[in-house]
Amino acid sequence: MLCVGGNIVSVGTTKGALRDPWLKKHRREITEIDCGGGVVLPGFVDSHTHPVFVAPRLLDFEKRIEGASYEEITAAGGGIRSSLEGVRKATKSVLSARVLAVLHEMAAQGTTTVEAKSGYGLTVESELKSLEAIRDAASRWPGTVVSTLLGAHVVPKEFQGRSQKYVESVCKEMIPSAAKRKLARFVDVFCDKGAFTGVETEQIFAAAQEHGLRVRAHMGQLSETRLSPFLRFDPASFDHMDHVSDDDILELARRDTVATLVPGANYFLGLKKYPDARRLIDAGVPVALATDYNPGTSPTVSMPMAMSLACTHMKMSPAEAMAAATFNGAWALRVADRKGSIEPGKDADLAVFAVKDYREIPYWFGANHCAVTILNGTVSAYG
Ligand code: NIG
Ligand code: FE
Repeated sequence: MLCVGGNIVSVGTTKGALRDPWLKKHRREITEIDCGGGVVLPGFVDSHTHPVFVAPRLLDFEKRIEGASYEEITAAGGGIRSSLEGVRKATKSVLSARVLAVLHEMAAQGTTTVEAKSGYGLTVESELKSLEAIRDAASRWPGTVVSTLLGAHVVPKEFQGRSQKYVESVCKEMIPSAAKRKLARFVDVFCDKGAFTGVETEQIFAAAQEHGLRVRAHMGQLSETRLSPFLRFDPASFDHMDHVSDDDILELARRDTVATLVPGANYFLGLKKYPDARRLIDAGVPVALATDYNPGTSPTVSMPMAMSLACTHMKMSPAEAMAAATFNGAWALRVADRKGSIEPGKDADLAVFAVKDYREIPYWFGANHCAVTILNGTVSAYG
């Protein structure tokens, strides 16, 4: 594989690469990496993460072990709302340092492109601060970050019983400012019971569209919402999708909205059921896998772990899991023209694993066999 200036130039045999006229003249200028019989993949595209928070939620963790559900913990004052104070009080540089540390951890497991959401500030000021922290961390990391405004994560306490007022603030303040300052490419909504309704989600999508931002949503995590009202906004992805009807699956199969499945959340919440990947894939819906890295439901940076869960609990084949963690993730972020596969012309985003067969990556669960990551041409070696 010959990469020049952060791009893949050619893919094939070493002999073939050596015939490249440019390489003949510049052989001494290039860095050769011997992958030693390992497996080289396109870098993982983690298309759903929430990295801007300050502290883990250990009380929620213990309460759940004692038997409380995610909804019960939220109702008792835990959940997303309990992460807000930390983010509101934190300086941008503290948040950005945390995000950067997570991006490095992700790269060490083979991830080269990350979607990063705000969503733990939920005031105009702290959501913009969170997006600035993402931008700042991204500028210091060699990989690629795609930012998403998730001002509509939950209705914060000061707006309790006045959710419409909060939605107005998302639509009239957060979205216009984030768009104007080019701080986000997407707007996300947590559309579910206990969060935002379908009607509110449509209002937020309309505001996003008006300001030139694309949309995606947390959909069907706790309960089913009909998808048809949202399709006119051409969502890039619906994420979670634990609850979805056959009719909606047929509708999705006719479009290029990706279903992004995040089995780390099911695992960490101790759920017996996982999203029905087979029903989606067999109907022709593009399925992506992501970590959903966040303090409440999925504290993992590991795409290989997400793949392992997908194979074991969702009956995805290792090849399907691989495509979902790379190419389809790139589609879910609308960056498939540059990311997600090893092809001449695309960005030099690669992950080298010290295994003999790609199926070993989801097989050795809980282990990290990533030896080298190449992010836009910059080499990071591990282990
Ligand atoms: O993707 N469902 C909404 N958002 C996150 C959880 C956030 C949290 O609990 O902090 C999710 O699961
Ligand atoms: Fe999420």
